Amino acid sequence: ARIAILISGRGSNMQAFIDACEAGELDASIALVLSNNPDAAGLARANAAGIPTTCVNHRDFDSREAFDAALVRTLEPVQPDLVILAGFMRILTPVFITPFAGKLLNIHPSLLPKYPGLDTHRRALEAGDREAGVTVHFVTPELDGGPPIIQAKVPIEDGDTPETLAARVIVLEHVIYPIAAKWQLQRRLRLDQQGATLDGKRI
Ligand code: GRF
Repeated sequence: ARIAILISGRGSNMQAFIDACEAGELDASIALVLSNNPDAAGLARANAAGIPTTCVNHRDFDSREAFDAALVRTLEPVQPDLVILAGFMRILTPVFITPFAGKLLNIHPSLLPKYPGLDTHRRALEAGDREAGVTVHFVTPELDGGPPIIQAKVPIEDGDTPETLAARVIVLEHVIYPIAAKWQLQRRLRLDQQGATLDGKRI
């Protein structure tokens, strides 16, 4: 199977996929890493692993739709079975989402439906929450609003800062994202009008 990964930054989740493929945990190869940000540190990490990379800079386009169309064109020759958003910091429109519906996953560092959008760990701390976490979900046009596939929780501890909480959560991101991808590649996940199913059971 062929995976395309979209990044904007350091690419630690992307690295988790590289490792899972190398370890044989995922029966797949990463066909392309695409960044909207030419300076993304993840591009160097992917290059170091011998993975093809490309940059489609959103600043070169005057609308989200034009940018999204360029993303679709870039992925066309790749024919990915699975498209992974891994710290990809652009809001996508249906121009991109529709052609990849059902094989487009995102990871979001909160227990969705809590805290869609930015600054999730700071918001969880300010709300006085006792736990935080991370969600892998199917991507739909609603920002961070697609059906959840898998979540992991961590306790919030006294004295936590957004940084200490993020450090506790990211470890689990790297565990659950490849698990969700494995289910998807095994064709055990489905996206339908009501949400997501695993092995035919509603998640
Ligand atoms: C992660 O916390 C992910 O949940 C969020 O952005 C961050 C990306 O980190 N969407 P990395 O680039 O994968 O290291």
